[in-house]
Formats: sequence, structure tokens, C-alpha cells
Amino acid sequence: MRLRRLRKSPEVRSVFSETEVRKGKLIMPMFVDENISKQEEIKNMPDIFRLPLNEITAKAKEYEDIGIKSILLFGVPGHKDSTGSASYDRNGVIQKAVREIKKETNLVVFADLCLCEYTDHGHCGIVKGKSIDNDSTLDTYAKIASSYAEAGVDGVAPSGMMDGQVGRIRKELDSRGYEDTLILAYSAKFASSMYAPFREAVFSTPSFGDRRTYQMPYNNAREAIREMELDIEEGADAIMVKPALFYLDLIREARNRFMLPIAAYSVSAEYSIIMSAARNGIINLDSVVDESLSSIFRAGADIVISYFTEYILKKEGN
Ligand code: PBG
Ligand code: ZN
Repeated sequence: MRLRRLRKSPEVRSVFSETEVRKGKLIMPMFVDENISKQEEIKNMPDIFRLPLNEITAKAKEYEDIGIKSILLFGVPGHKDSTGSASYDRNGVIQKAVREIKKETNLVVFADLCLCEYTDHGHCGIVKGKSIDNDSTLDTYAKIASSYAEAGVDGVAPSGMMDGQVGRIRKELDSRGYEDTLILAYSAKFASSMYAPFREAVFSTPSFGDRRTYQMPYNNAREAIREMELDIEEGADAIMVKPALFYLDLIREARNRFMLPIAAYSVSAEYSIIMSAARNGIINLDSVVDESLSSIFRAGADIVISYFTEYILKKEGN
């Protein structure tokens, strides 16, 4: 047997290729910031910007024109307080952005649902004493979910890793007539150093402690499966593994075990590391982007949230 027969030319390799980077399955994150009046490039994430409300829809249209199908929105509010009250304001930054983008485009719009961008302490939940209180946080998540749904979001993506968040949000959405609003659950979300550029971008670094009492230890794979099982029981429409590249084993495990769609989030520092190495002439950007995304799809992801989405679609067209 000569396996090299399968590799003898680009055409033959292409015919036998098992995995492709599926462009329609990429979700582009977008940052909308209420405090700025023109776009600002995010430090350590070249070509990724925070956009003001008056530029977000034009950018979303541009994305639609190059063939992007879906976006994931993150908001930076004008006002932060201890309970993150701007998060469920009917006229909050996400609510406004969603309303306009849904009116002007056919993009599938997801909104990250969490408190860390909205609280003055930067934690993902309500602080009681020195800890993050699970159950009172769920009350706030429920309010955020229905205000995003009211604005017309296709799906909410709860990322706070509170126990019971998916079930609580599903119940709230259903009771308010938003049965069709999807839940894309950040199920196996690890306490990772790979979120650093993101936290700088949205000013959500915790002012005390860290997120390790709610996000998962990266040492634990079985616990990650339990997190996914719970979210499925609670009614998640799709589950997510995050980060992606260091956690390909869990993407594969999720694919083998579960029948619902599996998303993977290739996070901010995955982008920064690749960009920085490419700009320093260490690696070739095009080929590493393709290799990294192919790996995530090969591991079994159906959907990949990637900061390279725009880059890829611009490079290759639709
Ligand atoms: C909010 C949230 C974070 C990310 C997505 N949603 C940051 C965090 O948990 O600290 C990280 C995304 C990235 O690094 O690209 N909870
Ligand atoms: Zn958070």
C-alpha cells in the first residue's frame, strides 16, 4: 500500500480532503462601544476594532456583502455599576445595535450574555461579600435574555458559567413569548489566560480575585462533559467549547457523545499569538490560519467563532 498516491498532486489531495474550513460556518465577533465616536483598533488584536453605535450597522452590512453569515456581539456600556444594570436596559448598547443590524441585514445575530462588561468590578455575576453569588446572578441573566430577545436577537450566548443559567434563561424566554430565541451555550468554558486581549478590549478584567470559582479548571475533561450534559438537559440549542486550540480533545469528545451542534470559540489570544508570530516573520499567516481552523473543524466543530472570519472571507470571496 502506498498512501502517497492520495497526495500526488494538489488536485488529488483536494479530492480526498476530509475537512475544509467551511466559510458559512464561521461566526465573526464584533465589539460595539458606547463611549467612542469612531472605531478604535484593539491593542494586540491587529485589524480588530471596537466600533461606535453609529458605525456598527455599516460594518455588519460590509460583513454580509463579503459573505459572512453570522456575528456574535459584545458590548461596552457607557455606564458600569455593581449590578451591571446597563446590561438589561432597553436602550442599552447591545439592544440598540441588535435592533438596527436586524433591520438592515439578514445576518444571524448572537449576543454574548454576561455581566463582566457591565459591572464596575468586572466579574461575570453579582458580588456578595467576597464571592460571586450564583442564584441572584441568574435573575439578572434572565432580564438580559428577555431584553436581547425583545431587541430581536436570533440567539443569546450565556458565557458567565453560573450553574443553571441555561435552564433559567430558557424558562424566562419561553414565558415571555420568545420561544424561538436560540441559546448558544458557552458550556465548557475554561478559566484561561487566552482571554487577556479580549478583557483589555472591553475593560472587563476583574478588579479583585479571578474567575476560577465559576470558569472551569483546564485540567478537567470529565467535568467539562458534565457541564455540557447539564446545558443540554437545560435546553441549550447548541453547546460550545472555549478556548478552541488547546481544547481540541473536548471538541472531539463532544462531537462523539452529543447529537446537537457543537461550536468552538477560537479566542482572542489565539488570534493575537498567530498574528504576532506572522508579523514577526516566524510563520506564514495564510497557512497557519487555514491549519488552525482546519484543526478545529477536524476535531468535530460544526461552527467556529473566529476573529479570522473577516480575513478569510476577504481573501477568498464567497
Ligand atoms: C465574557 C466573555 C469572555 C470572552 C467571551 N465572553 C471573557 C472572559 O470570560 O473573561 C472571551 C473571548 C475572547 O477571549 O476572545 N464572559
Ligand atoms: Zn463574563
